[in-house]
Amino acid sequence: MTEQRTWKVTFLPINRTVEIREGDSVLDAAVKGAIPLEHACGGVCACSTCHVIVKEGFADLEPASDKEEDMLDNAPCLTTTSRLGCQIEVTRDLVVEIPPMTRNQVSEEH
Ligand code: FES
Repeated sequence: MTEQRTWKVTFLPINRTVEIREGDSVLDAAVKGAIPLEHACGGVCACSTCHVIVKEGFADLEPASDKEEDMLDNAPCLTTTSRLGCQIEVTRDLVVEIPPMTRNQVSEEH
């Protein structure tokens, strides 16, 4: 049995790092670490509330699918390194920022 690799996902601006298994998503890391990243559709690429801005590691990610690109178009604070957290399969250490509008949505709901 080969040992499964683990990677670190760091969430800004709260600067918390969560370790997860290879192939888990950024959303999986957020849930595991109790990071306040919204995920209204439950992680099936049907909303844009899990929007994150990738600060480190963007170039090494699998490209976004057309569906993810479509969903991202609805996300506030869109940048050239924006992705949906539930669609990022983690295959290296990453640093992601939870954008201000997403954070606002979270705080409005609580
Ligand atoms: S949780 Fe809905 S698209 Fe990621």
